Amino acid sequence: MIYKIKAMSKKYGKKYVLKNINLEIEKNEKVVIIGPSGSGKSTFLRCLNTLEDVSSGAVYFNDLKLNKHFYKKIQGKIGMVFQSFQLFDNMTVLENITLAPVLNKVMSKEEAKSVARMYLKQIHLKGKEDFYPRDLSGGEKQRVAIIRTLMMNPDVILFDEPTSALDPEMTNEVLMLITEVSKKNITMIIVTHEIDFAKNIATRVLFMDRGRIVEDDCPEKIFNHPKSIRLQQFLNSRN
Ligand SMILES: Nc1ncnc2c1ncn2[C@@H]1O[C@H](COP(=O)(O)OP(=O)(O)OP(=O)(O)O)[C@@H](O)[C@H]1O
Ligand SMILES: [Mg+2]
Repeated sequence: MIYKIKAMSKKYGKKYVLKNINLEIEKNEKVVIIGPSGSGKSTFLRCLNTLEDVSSGAVYFNDLKLNKHFYKKIQGKIGMVFQSFQLFDNMTVLENITLAPVLNKVMSKEEAKSVARMYLKQIHLKGKEDFYPRDLSGGEKQRVAIIRTLMMNPDVILFDEPTSALDPEMTNEVLMLITEVSKKNITMIIVTHEIDFAKNIATRVLFMDRGRIVEDDCPEKIFNHPKSIRLQQFLNSRN
């Protein structure tokens, strides 16, 4: 088991954003999270990688009870891909990709550059090593951000709406890359509104509403046989 989440709640001030979440995630699962805006999906992901501390309960990652002090310990083991890419604007593509593995002594500088070049070729960005993020399209930026995460050989990658800022053509390129990555022996937790993609990639789907996990099932059950009225309404509103 890679994650064990026990009676986890998160509040901001007096407002509960996540309420009593209990969940276990096994290695290599591809978990998709769907749910309305404000239901707590991003907050949930942030609690899984120490960007936020929980208010009560606990999150265990490989048996380590997480809190912000362990940021260094989990760095590289838990990758995160954001809607807004979060590349370093003052660094080239190659520098963005090679920074973390070199700093953390996962690879030598030369090795990192060579692995980065191999990945860039795979994602059709050969020749753009020295470009800055501002000279890339949104889809290219997101593909670079995904490669940057892969360079650390993470156990798990958390994706928070990786294609929400992209137009349809670029969305497809990025979804194809994520699908390719999903074939690796890697755990993935993906917040997305792309229902067809979710059906395709997920081994398990969580439906969140108002800070709770309302349904937790295989894609077939979630999308074809939703149990709760809330999930039925949510899916209808997306058709
Ligand atoms: N730092 C914060 N301080 C106070 N409230 C916050 C903070 N971050 C999130 N919230 C609130 O927590 C709730 C859940 O937010 P969250 O971003 O997790 O939702 P979400 O499901 O990711 O929504 P979306 O689909 O719009 O991205 C919202 O009501 C939001 O306003
Ligand atoms: Mg969000």
